[in-house]
Amino acid sequence: MGRVYVAGSINMDVVATADRHPKVGETVAGQQVLYFPGGKGANQAVAASRLGARTTLIGRLGKDSFGAELKAFLGGQGIDLGYLQETAQAHTGTAIITVAAADNTIVVIPGSNALVSADDVSVVPLVKGDVAVSQFEIPLPTIAAFFRRARAAEATTLLNPAPAQKFGRELLELVDILVLNETELGFLAGTELSDSDEAVRIIDVARQLQAHADQTICVTLGKRGVLALAGQEEFPVPGRVVKAVDTTGAGDCFVGALAAQLADEVPLRTALAFANAAASISVQRMGAGPSMPTAAEVAAVL
Ligand code: RIB
Ligand code: NA
Repeated sequence: MGRVYVAGSINMDVVATADRHPKVGETVAGQQVLYFPGGKGANQAVAASRLGARTTLIGRLGKDSFGAELKAFLGGQGIDLGYLQETAQAHTGTAIITVAAADNTIVVIPGSNALVSADDVSVVPLVKGDVAVSQFEIPLPTIAAFFRRARAAEATTLLNPAPAQKFGRELLELVDILVLNETELGFLAGTELSDSDEAVRIIDVARQLQAHADQTICVTLGKRGVLALAGQEEFPVPGRVVKAVDTTGAGDCFVGALAAQLADEVPLRTALAFANAAASISVQRMGAGPSMPTAAEVAAVL
């Protein structure tokens, strides 16, 4: 069984709950303010670890109280933190989130995440069979360096290009598995896509983006499930109907679960169905990191 290495962001999520989101310039009264461990990288690592993968998180925290709390939380998840650094140069990454009617808005301030460097990832002992995972809350040159190293070691590279930003062909070529939602896919392909678009159109756009013949593109569609383009093969993974309370981190749960399955050499179709079920559990609980399920919980719904 391979190891999952996540190079990515760690944030404290400061969450306000309300009945509805305020409009621009408006103030609404909320119900609660909650502090949840978050950050896409950390969420993905928590999911992978809880689902049974040996997991390492590479990232940076500030030397402040949020950093200390996050380190304590991550340390309790069975994640290897040997490549986690603390820096006095910046505050710990922080996300200001509003949750209303299960939907969220997020403003993320990178802080220490912006300092995760190519040097930080250059010491990671990736080997064949490992899965290298990243997302767009750390600098892109760092991700490229991480993936180049993974490629050299014959490890699998998994990129979740979120939050979406345009990136070069050179990085895309280094990706074995790309996981993104339909909005992100549309943005990257320079066209508009919504979750009501037909599967054939979504797969068509994915095919335009595909950078090499072996690349797998997984388009997550929320309750509609997932569409996968694996090399030349395409297939859907059906959605699951659940009652969502907070979808923050659901995509991260999917990515972490998929990485854990691939490190365990589970075939792609089975791995995607598993990741989809894992994400459907995470949306039924508040918070990002703490809402990640265990393998037993996923097995119970499959
Ligand atoms: O994907 C969800 C995450 O995005 C949150 O945990 C928040 O920290 C932002 O990074
Ligand atoms: Na959740």
